[in-house]
Amino acid sequence: MPEARSLIDRYAAHLPVTERTPRLTLGEGNTPLVRAPALERETGLPEVWLKVEGQNPTGSFKDRGMVVAVAKSLEAGARMVLCASTGNTAASAAAYAARGGLSCTVVLPAGQVAAGKLAQAVAHGARVVAVRGPFDAALAVVRALAEQGEATVVNSVNPHRLEGQKTAAFEICEALGEAPDALFIPVGNAGNITAYWKGFVEASESAMATKRPRLFGYQAAGAAPLVSGRPVSDPQTIATAIRIGNPASWKGAIAARDDSGGAIDSVTDDEILSAYAFVARCEGIFCEPASAAAVAGLRKLARVGGLREARRVVCVLTGNGLKDPERARSLAGPIAEVEATPDAVRGALSR
Ligand code: F0G
Repeated sequence: MPEARSLIDRYAAHLPVTERTPRLTLGEGNTPLVRAPALERETGLPEVWLKVEGQNPTGSFKDRGMVVAVAKSLEAGARMVLCASTGNTAASAAAYAARGGLSCTVVLPAGQVAAGKLAQAVAHGARVVAVRGPFDAALAVVRALAEQGEATVVNSVNPHRLEGQKTAAFEICEALGEAPDALFIPVGNAGNITAYWKGFVEASESAMATKRPRLFGYQAAGAAPLVSGRPVSDPQTIATAIRIGNPASWKGAIAARDDSGGAIDSVTDDEILSAYAFVARCEGIFCEPASAAAVAGLRKLARVGGLREARRVVCVLTGNGLKDPERARSLAGPIAEVEATPDAVRGALSR
């Protein structure tokens, strides 16, 4: 069976690649765009779609950017990649480095990385170090190490990451035959909202779309520097992926917001968890808590009638729910364990 075309091959004309760039691939991109009827009923919007980025090879959107960043590192003759991460970047860097034969070091905020992400980084053979402090402290360390020439940084401060990530905007335009009216996206280090805007601008300059969507970014209330306008020194949220106090792509996020006529707002942890449960139980899609911030934002804006002129909106579900199994389990009580008889099971179900 022929292998599906790699993301790099599919979008080579729009990416900073040459014939010499290795066609590295783990099958990233081409993720499903799924209709969300329960959200349509709740919001009253004619069309709500979910871009299910958790179906990427390592379970998050990071793979789109990582495949380009690692391929370019290989092309440049690098031997080692390095990143700071709340978990997903680490998982993706570790996997693509393994595939490309590079060594990988990841620096994580101690005690704040979901179990599945840590498992992935370790499984793919990355060297893992946890630092005391938030993601922002880890990124500062990584930048300092990189300045001393230790490795190629594959955080979104690496422009190849954003180039790869913009391909999700292309896919949305291709699937819908046009850009949506609005796009809802969680914001942490702010690379992805920056990348989507770049993608939609480029799509509107090509045959992929004739218009651009308004971008609505959502931070967690305890980690919302772009909403308050100043860095947060001790960011707090159950959505550990976006527990970030000083986003590297601050300017890119503000430009995406302003140029698109959108907004960046915050949602509380309760709103995030409610959206997380809603998407899992009513749409059948299991995303991670950070991803649910986009859905929480859509629900919040729809409630106050902020979307009257929009007909077709997309929420980006950035990561797979399996990344953070403990969070999912914490939403329900203990599971009954009984004798293996129909009566005992019936009894447990009726309690
Ligand atoms: N959703 C998920 C699941 C993420 O892992 C991240 C970021 C975001 C949203 C926010 O994207 O940073 O581009 O604004 N995760 C990074 C990481 C920080 O290290 O994995 P952003």
